[in-house]
Amino acid sequence: MKITVLAGDGIGVEVTREAVKVLRAVAGVFDLAIETDEQLIGGAGIREKGSPFPDETRAACLASDAVLLGAVGSPEFDDLLPENRPEIGLLNLRQALGGFANLRPSKAFPALIDSSPLRREIFEGTDLLIVRELLGGLYFGRPRAISETEAYNTMRYSVAEVERVARVAFEAARTRKQKVTSVDKANVLETSRLWRQTVERVAKDYPEIALEHLFVDACAMHLVTNPTRFDVVLTENLFGDILSDEAAVLTGSLGMLASATIGGAIDLYEPVHGSAPDIAGKNIANPLGAIASVAMLLRYTAKQPEAADAIERAIEKALEEGHRTADLTTDRENFAKTDELGELVARSATEFARKRANSRAV
Ligand code: IPM
Ligand code: MN
Repeated sequence: MKITVLAGDGIGVEVTREAVKVLRAVAGVFDLAIETDEQLIGGAGIREKGSPFPDETRAACLASDAVLLGAVGSPEFDDLLPENRPEIGLLNLRQALGGFANLRPSKAFPALIDSSPLRREIFEGTDLLIVRELLGGLYFGRPRAISETEAYNTMRYSVAEVERVARVAFEAARTRKQKVTSVDKANVLETSRLWRQTVERVAKDYPEIALEHLFVDACAMHLVTNPTRFDVVLTENLFGDILSDEAAVLTGSLGMLASATIGGAIDLYEPVHGSAPDIAGKNIANPLGAIASVAMLLRYTAKQPEAADAIERAIEKALEEGHRTADLTTDRENFAKTDELGELVARSATEFARKRANSRAV
Protein backbone atom coordinates (compact mmCIF):
# COMPACT_ATOMS: atom_id res chain seq x y z
CA MET A 1 0.00 0.00 0.00
CA LYS A 2 1.14 3.49 -0.80
CA ILE A 3 0.14 5.99 1.84
CA THR A 4 0.70 9.70 1.50
CA VAL A 5 1.33 11.22 4.91
CA LEU A 6 0.38 14.87 5.35
CA ALA A 7 1.35 15.81 8.90
CA GLY A 8 0.45 19.46 8.32
CA ASP A 9 0.64 22.01 11.11
CA GLY A 10 0.94 22.26 14.87
CA ILE A 11 0.33 19.03 16.75
CA GLY A 12 -0.47 17.35 13.41
CA VAL A 13 3.26 16.69 13.10
CA GLU A 14 3.60 15.04 16.50
CA VAL A 15 0.46 12.91 16.45
CA THR A 16 1.01 11.73 12.89
CA ARG A 17 4.51 10.54 13.74
CA GLU A 18 3.03 8.29 16.43
CA ALA A 19 0.25 7.08 14.14
CA VAL A 20 2.76 6.05 11.47
CA LYS A 21 4.82 4.30 14.14
CA VAL A 22 1.80 2.22 15.15
CA LEU A 23 0.88 1.52 11.54
CA ARG A 24 4.36 0.24 10.74
CA ALA A 25 4.48 -1.92 13.85
CA VAL A 26 1.18 -3.66 13.13
CA ALA A 27 1.74 -3.91 9.38
CA GLY A 28 5.01 -5.69 10.13
CA VAL A 29 3.20 -8.47 11.98
CA PHE A 30 0.70 -9.09 9.19
CA ASP A 31 3.31 -8.78 6.43
CA LEU A 32 1.59 -5.82 4.87
CA ALA A 33 3.97 -3.85 2.71
CA ILE A 34 3.46 -0.17 3.51
CA GLU A 35 5.20 2.57 1.64
CA THR A 36 4.83 6.10 3.02
CA ASP A 37 5.48 9.36 1.26
CA GLU A 38 5.53 12.57 3.33
CA GLN A 39 4.21 15.71 1.71
CA LEU A 40 3.35 19.26 2.72
CA ILE A 41 -0.08 20.75 3.30
CA GLY A 42 -1.61 23.76 5.07
CA GLY A 43 0.66 26.31 6.71
CA ALA A 44 3.68 24.06 6.14
CA GLY A 45 2.89 24.11 2.41
CA ILE A 46 2.54 27.88 2.37
CA ARG A 47 5.84 28.35 4.20
CA GLU A 48 7.92 25.97 2.10
CA LYS A 49 6.20 25.94 -1.29
CA GLY A 50 4.05 29.06 -1.30
CA SER A 51 0.80 27.04 -1.44
CA PRO A 52 -1.44 25.35 1.14
CA PHE A 53 -1.93 22.47 -1.33
CA PRO A 54 1.22 22.26 -3.48
CA ASP A 55 1.08 20.46 -6.84
CA GLU A 56 3.54 17.79 -5.63
CA THR A 57 1.22 17.05 -2.74
CA ARG A 58 -1.78 16.71 -5.00
CA ALA A 59 0.10 14.40 -7.38
CA ALA A 60 1.42 12.22 -4.56
CA CYS A 61 -2.03 11.90 -2.96
CA LEU A 62 -3.67 10.96 -6.24
CA ALA A 63 -1.06 8.26 -6.80
CA SER A 64 -1.61 6.63 -3.41
CA ASP A 65 -4.02 4.11 -1.90
CA ALA A 66 -4.89 6.30 1.06
CA VAL A 67 -3.97 9.62 2.63
CA LEU A 68 -3.25 10.10 6.33
CA LEU A 69 -3.55 13.68 7.51
CA GLY A 70 -2.57 15.29 10.83
CA ALA A 71 -4.08 18.77 11.10
CA VAL A 72 -3.94 22.11 9.35
CA GLY A 73 -4.14 25.69 10.61
CA SER A 74 -1.71 28.15 12.10
CA PRO A 75 -2.24 31.53 13.80
CA GLU A 76 0.58 32.97 11.70
CA PHE A 77 -1.85 33.07 8.75
CA ASP A 78 -4.86 34.40 10.68
CA ASP A 79 -5.00 37.63 8.69
CA LEU A 80 -5.33 35.88 5.34
CA LEU A 81 -8.63 35.52 3.50
CA PRO A 82 -10.22 32.03 3.59
CA GLU A 83 -9.07 31.41 0.01
CA ASN A 84 -5.38 31.70 0.99
CA ARG A 85 -5.39 30.19 4.45
CA PRO A 86 -3.94 26.80 5.47
CA GLU A 87 -7.47 25.39 5.80
CA ILE A 88 -8.08 25.77 2.06
CA GLY A 89 -5.33 23.18 1.59
CA LEU A 90 -7.46 20.65 3.41
CA LEU A 91 -10.62 21.61 1.52
CA ASN A 92 -8.78 21.35 -1.80
CA LEU A 93 -7.40 17.99 -0.76
CA ARG A 94 -10.86 16.70 0.13
CA GLN A 95 -12.18 17.87 -3.21
CA ALA A 96 -9.28 16.31 -5.12
CA LEU A 97 -9.72 12.92 -3.43
CA GLY A 98 -13.48 13.00 -3.91
CA GLY A 99 -14.59 11.36 -0.66
CA PHE A 100 -18.02 12.76 0.22
CA ALA A 101 -18.83 10.77 3.35
CA ASN A 102 -16.89 11.61 6.48
CA LEU A 103 -17.33 9.00 9.20
CA ARG A 104 -16.73 10.22 12.74
CA PRO A 105 -17.38 7.54 15.36
CA SER A 106 -17.75 8.58 19.00
CA LYS A 107 -18.13 6.11 21.78
CA ALA A 108 -17.78 5.91 25.51
CA PHE A 109 -14.47 4.29 26.48
CA PRO A 110 -15.23 2.56 29.80
CA ALA A 111 -11.88 3.69 31.22
CA LEU A 112 -12.62 7.32 30.40
CA ILE A 113 -16.20 7.64 31.58
CA ASP A 114 -15.16 9.86 34.46
CA SER A 115 -13.28 12.20 32.11
CA SER A 116 -16.48 12.96 30.22
CA PRO A 117 -18.08 16.34 30.86
CA LEU A 118 -21.33 14.36 31.16
CA ARG A 119 -22.41 12.42 34.20
CA ARG A 120 -21.67 8.70 34.04
CA GLU A 121 -25.33 7.66 33.95
CA ILE A 122 -25.96 9.91 30.95
CA PHE A 123 -22.88 9.02 28.92
CA GLU A 124 -22.33 5.34 29.68
CA GLY A 125 -23.15 3.14 26.69
CA THR A 126 -22.90 5.93 24.11
CA ASP A 127 -21.82 4.59 20.73
CA LEU A 128 -22.63 6.75 17.74
CA LEU A 129 -21.34 7.44 14.26
CA ILE A 130 -21.63 10.83 12.64
CA VAL A 131 -21.83 10.63 8.85
CA ARG A 132 -20.96 14.13 7.72
CA GLU A 133 -21.43 15.19 4.09
CA LEU A 134 -18.03 16.59 3.20
CA LEU A 135 -18.03 18.12 -0.27
CA GLY A 136 -21.12 20.32 -0.33
CA GLY A 137 -23.02 22.97 1.56
CA LEU A 138 -21.56 26.27 2.72
CA TYR A 139 -17.98 25.01 2.48
CA PHE A 140 -18.04 24.78 -1.31
CA GLY A 141 -21.19 26.62 -2.45
CA ARG A 142 -20.88 29.44 -4.96
CA PRO A 143 -21.21 32.36 -5.13
CA ARG A 144 -19.19 33.38 -2.11
CA ALA A 145 -17.64 36.81 -1.57
CA ILE A 146 -16.68 39.49 0.87
CA SER A 147 -16.53 43.27 0.42
CA GLU A 148 -16.07 46.11 2.92
CA THR A 149 -19.77 46.17 3.67
CA GLU A 150 -21.12 42.69 3.16
CA ALA A 151 -20.20 39.05 2.77
CA TYR A 152 -22.04 35.94 1.70
CA ASN A 153 -21.76 32.20 1.31
CA THR A 154 -24.08 29.84 -0.47
CA MET A 155 -25.62 26.73 0.98
CA ARG A 156 -26.38 24.42 -1.89
CA TYR A 157 -27.21 20.73 -2.19
CA SER A 158 -28.36 18.58 -5.09
CA VAL A 159 -30.49 15.47 -4.74
CA ALA A 160 -27.59 13.36 -5.99
CA GLU A 161 -25.26 14.75 -3.33
CA VAL A 162 -27.71 14.02 -0.53
CA GLU A 163 -28.60 10.61 -1.86
CA ARG A 164 -25.06 9.25 -2.05
CA VAL A 165 -24.17 10.24 1.51
CA ALA A 166 -27.53 9.04 2.82
CA ARG A 167 -26.81 5.60 1.38
CA VAL A 168 -23.52 5.47 3.28
CA ALA A 169 -25.40 6.25 6.50
CA PHE A 170 -28.05 3.57 5.95
CA GLU A 171 -25.44 0.99 5.00
CA ALA A 172 -23.51 1.83 8.18
CA ALA A 173 -26.67 1.50 10.29
CA ARG A 174 -27.15 -2.01 8.90
CA THR A 175 -23.95 -3.13 10.58
CA ARG A 176 -24.74 -1.25 13.81
CA LYS A 177 -27.95 -0.55 15.75
CA GLN A 178 -30.31 -0.16 12.76
CA LYS A 179 -31.12 3.49 13.31
CA VAL A 180 -30.43 6.68 11.36
CA THR A 181 -31.03 10.16 12.74
CA SER A 182 -31.01 12.68 9.91
CA VAL A 183 -30.18 16.18 11.13
CA ASP A 184 -31.28 19.31 9.31
CA LYS A 185 -32.95 22.70 9.74
CA ALA A 186 -35.98 21.97 7.58
CA ASN A 187 -38.10 24.49 9.50
CA VAL A 188 -35.96 27.30 8.00
CA LEU A 189 -33.75 26.17 5.10
CA GLU A 190 -34.68 25.03 1.58
CA THR A 191 -31.54 22.90 1.38
CA SER A 192 -32.79 21.09 4.48
CA ARG A 193 -36.19 20.45 2.94
CA LEU A 194 -34.51 18.86 -0.05
CA TRP A 195 -32.25 16.95 2.32
CA ARG A 196 -35.20 15.57 4.28
CA GLN A 197 -37.23 14.57 1.21
CA THR A 198 -34.25 12.83 -0.31
CA VAL A 199 -33.38 10.96 2.88
CA GLU A 200 -37.02 9.83 3.17
CA ARG A 201 -36.82 8.41 -0.33
CA VAL A 202 -33.52 6.61 0.25
CA ALA A 203 -34.95 5.18 3.48
CA LYS A 204 -37.52 3.22 1.45
CA ASP A 205 -34.67 0.99 0.26
CA TYR A 206 -33.81 0.19 3.88
CA PRO A 207 -37.09 -0.83 5.52
CA GLU A 208 -35.29 -2.54 8.41
CA ILE A 209 -33.59 0.72 9.46
CA ALA A 210 -35.48 3.13 11.72
CA LEU A 211 -35.27 6.71 10.47
CA GLU A 212 -35.90 9.83 12.53
CA HIS A 213 -35.38 13.50 11.70
CA LEU A 214 -34.08 16.07 14.15
CA PHE A 215 -33.48 19.78 13.78
CA VAL A 216 -29.84 20.59 14.34
CA ASP A 217 -30.44 22.70 17.45
CA ALA A 218 -32.42 19.87 19.04
CA CYS A 219 -29.71 17.41 18.05
CA ALA A 220 -27.07 19.53 19.80
CA MET A 221 -29.22 19.39 22.91
CA HIS A 222 -29.93 15.65 22.75
CA LEU A 223 -26.20 14.95 22.35
CA VAL A 224 -25.57 16.25 25.85
CA THR A 225 -28.78 15.12 27.52
CA ASN A 226 -29.36 11.71 25.95
CA PRO A 227 -26.43 10.62 23.74
CA THR A 228 -27.33 6.93 23.97
CA ARG A 229 -30.42 7.54 21.81
CA PHE A 230 -28.17 7.89 18.75
CA ASP A 231 -26.75 5.30 16.40
CA VAL A 232 -25.93 6.83 12.99
CA VAL A 233 -26.25 10.61 12.73
CA LEU A 234 -26.49 11.78 9.11
CA THR A 235 -25.98 15.46 8.39
CA GLU A 236 -24.69 18.14 6.04
CA ASN A 237 -21.20 19.59 6.07
CA LEU A 238 -21.28 22.51 8.52
CA PHE A 239 -23.78 20.91 10.92
CA GLY A 240 -21.56 17.83 10.93
CA ASP A 241 -18.47 19.89 11.64
CA ILE A 242 -20.09 21.44 14.70
CA LEU A 243 -21.85 18.34 16.01
CA SER A 244 -18.74 16.19 15.64
CA ASP A 245 -16.67 18.43 17.91
CA GLU A 246 -19.49 18.23 20.43
CA ALA A 247 -19.77 14.44 20.11
CA ALA A 248 -16.00 14.07 20.30
CA VAL A 249 -15.49 15.98 23.51
CA LEU A 250 -18.15 13.92 25.27
CA THR A 251 -15.61 11.09 25.32
CA GLY A 252 -13.33 13.15 27.55
CA SER A 253 -11.20 14.87 24.95
CA LEU A 254 -11.37 16.09 21.38
CA GLY A 255 -8.03 14.36 20.94
CA MET A 256 -9.56 10.87 21.11
CA LEU A 257 -11.46 10.67 17.88
CA ALA A 258 -10.66 9.46 14.41
CA SER A 259 -12.30 9.96 11.06
CA ALA A 260 -12.44 8.30 7.67
CA THR A 261 -13.56 9.95 4.46
CA ILE A 262 -14.82 7.49 1.89
CA GLY A 263 -16.73 7.31 -1.36
CA GLY A 264 -14.18 9.01 -3.61
CA ALA A 265 -11.19 7.90 -5.63
CA ILE A 266 -8.88 7.83 -2.61
CA ASP A 267 -9.78 7.48 1.05
CA LEU A 268 -8.65 10.06 3.58
CA TYR A 269 -8.00 9.48 7.28
CA GLU A 270 -7.61 12.22 9.85
CA PRO A 271 -8.24 12.82 13.54
CA VAL A 272 -11.22 15.08 14.29
CA HIS A 273 -9.12 17.56 16.28
CA GLY A 274 -7.29 20.60 14.91
CA SER A 275 -3.67 21.77 14.95
CA ALA A 276 -3.84 23.12 18.54
CA PRO A 277 -1.06 25.71 18.10
CA ASP A 278 -1.10 26.51 21.83
CA ILE A 279 0.32 23.09 22.72
CA ALA A 280 2.27 22.36 19.53
CA GLY A 281 5.89 21.22 19.76
CA LYS A 282 5.63 20.32 23.46
CA ASN A 283 5.15 16.58 23.10
CA ILE A 284 1.95 16.76 25.15
CA ALA A 285 -0.73 16.29 22.46
CA ASN A 286 -2.98 13.23 22.56
CA PRO A 287 -2.00 10.93 19.66
CA LEU A 288 -4.92 8.53 20.11
CA GLY A 289 -7.23 10.18 17.56
CA ALA A 290 -4.49 9.95 14.93
CA ILE A 291 -3.67 6.38 15.93
CA ALA A 292 -7.35 5.41 15.79
CA SER A 293 -7.45 6.94 12.29
CA VAL A 294 -4.77 4.46 11.24
CA ALA A 295 -6.99 1.69 12.59
CA MET A 296 -9.80 2.97 10.39
CA LEU A 297 -7.41 3.00 7.43
CA LEU A 298 -6.54 -0.63 8.04
CA ARG A 299 -10.20 -1.54 8.38
CA TYR A 300 -11.69 0.32 5.41
CA THR A 301 -8.97 0.75 2.82
CA ALA A 302 -6.54 -2.09 3.60
CA LYS A 303 -9.39 -4.51 4.51
CA GLN A 304 -7.38 -5.78 7.46
CA PRO A 305 -9.90 -5.94 10.30
CA GLU A 306 -7.57 -7.94 12.53
CA ALA A 307 -4.87 -5.29 12.29
CA ALA A 308 -7.46 -2.60 13.01
CA ASP A 309 -8.76 -4.55 16.02
CA ALA A 310 -5.23 -4.91 17.39
CA ILE A 311 -4.78 -1.13 17.38
CA GLU A 312 -8.18 -0.42 18.88
CA ARG A 313 -7.61 -2.96 21.64
CA ALA A 314 -4.19 -1.45 22.33
CA ILE A 315 -5.74 1.99 22.72
CA GLU A 316 -8.31 0.63 25.17
CA LYS A 317 -5.64 -1.26 27.10
CA ALA A 318 -3.47 1.85 27.47
CA LEU A 319 -6.46 3.75 28.86
CA GLU A 320 -7.44 0.89 31.17
CA GLU A 321 -3.91 0.82 32.54
CA GLY A 322 -4.30 4.48 33.41
CA HIS A 323 -2.09 6.08 30.78
CA ARG A 324 -3.38 9.59 30.13
CA THR A 325 -2.10 12.48 28.10
CA ALA A 326 -2.45 15.95 29.63
CA ASP A 327 -5.87 16.54 28.06
CA LEU A 328 -7.29 13.57 29.97
CA THR A 329 -6.00 14.24 33.45
CA THR A 330 -5.96 17.05 35.97
CA ASP A 331 -2.58 15.88 37.24
CA ARG A 332 -0.16 18.55 35.97
CA GLU A 333 2.96 16.50 36.76
CA ASN A 334 2.29 12.90 35.93
CA PHE A 335 0.93 12.38 32.48
CA ALA A 336 1.97 10.48 29.39
CA LYS A 337 3.90 12.34 26.72
CA THR A 338 2.83 12.08 23.09
CA ASP A 339 5.73 9.86 22.05
CA GLU A 340 5.52 7.68 25.18
CA LEU A 341 1.88 6.89 24.57
CA GLY A 342 2.56 6.25 20.87
CA GLU A 343 5.39 3.87 21.75
CA LEU A 344 3.25 2.06 24.31
CA VAL A 345 0.31 1.61 21.93
CA ALA A 346 2.65 0.48 19.13
CA ARG A 347 4.12 -2.19 21.43
CA SER A 348 0.86 -3.52 22.72
CA ALA A 349 -0.81 -3.38 19.30
CA THR A 350 2.09 -5.49 18.04
CA GLU A 351 1.44 -8.03 20.79
CA PHE A 352 -2.27 -8.22 20.06
CA ALA A 353 -1.49 -8.54 16.37
CA ARG A 354 1.04 -11.34 16.97
CA LYS A 355 -1.48 -13.31 19.00
CA ARG A 356 -3.95 -12.98 16.16
CA ALA A 357 -1.43 -13.83 13.47
CA ASN A 358 -0.24 -16.90 15.44
CA SER A 359 -3.72 -18.24 16.07
CA ARG A 360 -4.39 -17.90 12.38
CA ALA A 361 -1.28 -19.89 11.55
CA VAL A 362 -2.34 -22.94 13.57
C1 IPM B 1 -12.61 19.45 10.58
C2 IPM B 1 -11.97 20.80 10.60
C3 IPM B 1 -11.98 21.39 9.19
C4 IPM B 1 -13.42 21.51 8.75
C5 IPM B 1 -11.25 22.74 9.03
C6 IPM B 1 -9.83 22.67 9.53
C7 IPM B 1 -11.29 23.24 7.61
O1 IPM B 1 -12.58 21.64 11.51
O2 IPM B 1 -12.11 18.56 9.88
O3 IPM B 1 -13.60 19.24 11.29
O4 IPM B 1 -14.10 22.49 9.08
O5 IPM B 1 -13.89 20.59 8.06
MN1 MN C 1 -14.12 20.65 12.71
